[in-house]
Amino acid sequence: MRDINIAWARELARKTLQDALPRRWEHSLGVGQRAEQLAPILGKEAELLAMSAYLHDIGYAPDLVDTGFHPIDGARYLRDVHGADELLCRLVAHHTCAEIEAGERGLLDILQREFPKQRPDLVEALTYCDMTTSPDGVPVEAVDRLAEIRQRYGPEDLVTATISKATPCIMSAVLAIQERMALTDVRPDSTAKVVADPQSHRTIHWIPLHLVTAHPAHFA
Ligand SMILES: [Fe+2]
Repeated sequence: MRDINIAWARELARKTLQDALPRRWEHSLGVGQRAEQLAPILGKEAELLAMSAYLHDIGYAPDLVDTGFHPIDGARYLRDVHGADELLCRLVAHHTCAEIEAGERGLLDILQREFPKQRPDLVEALTYCDMTTSPDGVPVEAVDRLAEIRQRYGPEDLVTATISKATPCIMSAVLAIQERMALTDVRPDSTAKVVADPQSHRTIHWIPLHLVTAHPAHFA
């Protein structure tokens, strides 16, 4: 029986995405590497998180498109073709607040029936990795990532409308992981802005949430 591990996940993502969608592969590689850096806060579950990170966008591959909603299409492929671990499939199905876009697409029933949400803490971690990695696989701040998505898809696209609704969910996940990282003094990349918290004298990773919550037009 083959090993289901990080190397397997990375290679499956590479084979599926590299030729057909090279930029998506670069992004997936970056998200996976981001996830591997979370080992200090995830312990033994870091491997599962990293596997889901490498594979989270596999449903974009042209050969795998079924519903047209990549979290479901990717999770189905992993479940039906590779017999992947149920939790791995569920993480892929729910990454980056997928329930919100599933609702917009009329696919929420399918998502919840086939892949009931499990381990919201790991879904948050996967969302953090996805939303702090650029389309080219480079670490970015989540606010910049959200703005880039809006710009790339344009004002008329369903994705742009959805990302607005999903922004609080996404930022909540990002902040939750940044808090956990700060408590364990994890600094996964050189681009993170780091400030001292004068109240607790600990180091936190700072992200300008007020730009999202108080000035949503920032992303328009
Ligand atoms: Fe992604």
